[in-house]
Amino acid sequence: MNNKRISLQQETSEHHFYAAEESIILEVLIRHCVPIKHACQNGTCGICLTPLITGEIDYGPRQPRGLSDKEQATGYFLPCIAKCKTDIRIGPPKVKVHR
Ligand code: FES
Repeated sequence: MNNKRISLQQETSEHHFYAAEESIILEVLIRHCVPIKHACQNGTCGICLTPLITGEIDYGPRQPRGLSDKEQATGYFLPCIAKCKTDIRIGPPKVKVHR
């Protein structure tokens, strides 16, 4: 198995998680208690919108329908339907979780 590294870059710190190639990125983030909102989990609602800073993700046969052209062009992705194609570096999810 070839694990990929997910680096979550925050203002003053960076956290690293490891994900199997077949893992859905949202599930990895939730498992590591990263505050991320999610609803549909099928790429439709767009609420899990997250900035991809470096690296490549793979949607497989799924379509990121909740992602606008502008969001896609500015580097956002939908982790609920994405797997890591390479090691990736991401920013904090766009929609804040209020606790
Ligand atoms: S949870 Fe709806 S697009 Fe990700």
